[in-house]
Amino acid sequence: MTLRRRELLHLAPALALAACGSQAQEAPPPDLPLKDAAPFPVGLAVQSGSLTDAGWRAVADRHFNQVTPEWEMKMERVLQDDGSYDFSAADAIAEYAASTGKRLFGHALIWYAQTSPAFERIDGQGSPFQAAYRNYIHEVAGRYRGRAAAWDVVNEPVAEDGDGFRDCVWRRNFGMAYIDRAFEHAAEADPNALLFLNEYNLESLPAKRVTFLRLLEDLLRRGTPVTGVGTQSHMDVELAPGAYAAAMREIAAFGLPVHVSELDISLGRGAKAMVQGDRALLLKQARLAEEVARSLADLPAAQRFGLTIWGARDGDSWLRRPPNNGGSPTDQPLMFDDAGRPKPATAGLLRGFG
Ligand code: G3I
Repeated sequence: MTLRRRELLHLAPALALAACGSQAQEAPPPDLPLKDAAPFPVGLAVQSGSLTDAGWRAVADRHFNQVTPEWEMKMERVLQDDGSYDFSAADAIAEYAASTGKRLFGHALIWYAQTSPAFERIDGQGSPFQAAYRNYIHEVAGRYRGRAAAWDVVNEPVAEDGDGFRDCVWRRNFGMAYIDRAFEHAAEADPNALLFLNEYNLESLPAKRVTFLRLLEDLLRRGTPVTGVGTQSHMDVELAPGAYAAAMREIAAFGLPVHVSELDISLGRGAKAMVQGDRALLLKQARLAEEVARSLADLPAAQRFGLTIWGARDGDSWLRRPPNNGGSPTDQPLMFDDAGRPKPATAGLLRGFG
């Protein structure tokens, strides 16, 4: 039994009491580094501007051993309108990962939600478009070859309600083969990186999960080099107990490495907080965080790729930024509070890791 597990077992009574709503629930969650307690890498989404923020660094350096660029490795940031590239922010994040010994997760090469005038100018032009598509993937994935351990190669291919697939410039020019081509080009550009297909609401929308898993099965059957599956896990705190674990079992059924890739658990707050109170919501959040962590920890070691939280502190969350804060501008979706202190959800993760 490694030291860290013995340390965790020492904490188990406090963790257990915190879980059952006893008086001990007021005990502050243990400040045990997440990366030391988990049986897989624990990552967070990062923006280059955070790298010089001491409060952010205090959380990121202590608890995490993987990073995902939240947006600065995406087409919106690296591909300029004239077709040139600006990797300055992405390179800063890659340098932070290397200098702090963190695994770098590349996000995201092809996404229905993002294109560029550099592509729109050649939309529908056959081989010029196809060559530009290949060149883009080689430019980006090739730049981080040997530094990015893995990539979200295609992000969110399935329609919002699960009925079919996203329309986008990539599908208009290749048909659904845009997915196969993206993975083939990424495998050429970085043969050693794991290549992920990434999607959200797989735990909350069974119809979307069915469509996604059928797509994954088709890709694998065709020999498309998909070597990992990402379940983003942007969730509402009211997700029914057991739903996440059931979804994870289906997602893992193909035997691929699984990445919980963008975890946050929105409290929504607003009316909910008025009725239930923040404390009750935070304890529900802790229960769900425990179920997420345990669902991944229960997989075979070869499938436990990692767990990425979509931000360090509650205030770092995209859900706090307009227009995303429809629920509440003071949502508390992450594992550390605005001051960087562990929340009950942190204890929930630790219980789930154990
Ligand atoms: O930081 C700049 C700021 O300087 C500038 O004034 C402002 C207006 O242009 O933009 C700011 O950058 C924005 C950035 O978020 C930081 O807030 C970008 O425009 C904006 O596009 C970016 O949005 C990101 C979004 O993906 C689109 O890339 C969010 O941070 C990020 O959380 C979100 O993450 C996605 C995943 O990639 C895929 N799954 C869903 C998830 C949430 O939508």
